[in-house]
Amino acid sequence: RVAYVNGTYRPHGDATVHVEDRGFQFADGVYEVWSIFDGRLADFDAHMTRLHRSLNELRIPIPMTREALTQVLKETVRRNRVRDGIVYLQVTRGTARRDHPFPAEGTPPSVVVTAKSIPQAKAEATAAKGVAVVTQPDIRWGRCDIKTVGLLPNVLAKQAARERGAYEAWMVDEMGLVTEGSSTNAWIVDENGKLRTRDTQANILRGCTRAAILELIKEEGVEFEERAFSVDEAKRAKEAFFTAAGAWVMPAVSIDGVKIGNGKPGPITKKLRELYLDQAR
Ligand code: PDD
Repeated sequence: RVAYVNGTYRPHGDATVHVEDRGFQFADGVYEVWSIFDGRLADFDAHMTRLHRSLNELRIPIPMTREALTQVLKETVRRNRVRDGIVYLQVTRGTARRDHPFPAEGTPPSVVVTAKSIPQAKAEATAAKGVAVVTQPDIRWGRCDIKTVGLLPNVLAKQAARERGAYEAWMVDEMGLVTEGSSTNAWIVDENGKLRTRDTQANILRGCTRAAILELIKEEGVEFEERAFSVDEAKRAKEAFFTAAGAWVMPAVSIDGVKIGNGKPGPITKKLRELYLDQAR
């Protein structure tokens, strides 16, 4: 395996950044994850646009042209021989003596790219059964629309889920409404059969998979509302699932131990997973 680090492809085992990288010291950086299907990067432009927005919001300089970055992403996928999996990109504010304010102008941002395969059979088996979700308080900052590498609350939430035998944690705000998953967007088919996911005016990430699904349902005529749902509504829902690069559309079959529907992936969830995978492939 190889990784791209600041201009060179290095063996994965010794692909390192400096100890004074601001990503390491301050989580002063952003990232993106693309799904790879048949060697192709899914929702390519949407992720690229969000990357530029994240960089812009944090005033991290654009490290290289879009074309050059595209080339690096594709080359990393190629060199790792990934057909199905994910490619990860991280851009930080660069390396400088540790000091909170931004480093001197002209400090080059750090750029790292890795890629890994996700065995399709295993992913399909997981999705066929569906997974458990638990809820956790959302203790994150007020700019979750920016895809920063500052993910400690997400890490703690995901770990809490795993320790309870669940696959994902859904984070809950002070009103008792689900914000999103620790690394995914949360959806339900509510009691009335309406597909729902939280609006992006709220403090959540605008998922690229979420956006792709919204496009797909336009053509399907699924009844949909962009409105937050409570934990109680989720537990009473007919179906539940979550979306992200690498997870695609993953059925949730229980929430905090409460069975959703009949405890199996629901028909709308399965349909959306198929539709998403079809158009991505
Ligand atoms: N996570 N919400 C959060 C908090 C996320 O971290 C992610 C993605 C999503 C879904 O976004 P998208 O559909 O664009 O992947 C929603 C990536 C995959 C990760 O952290 O690995």
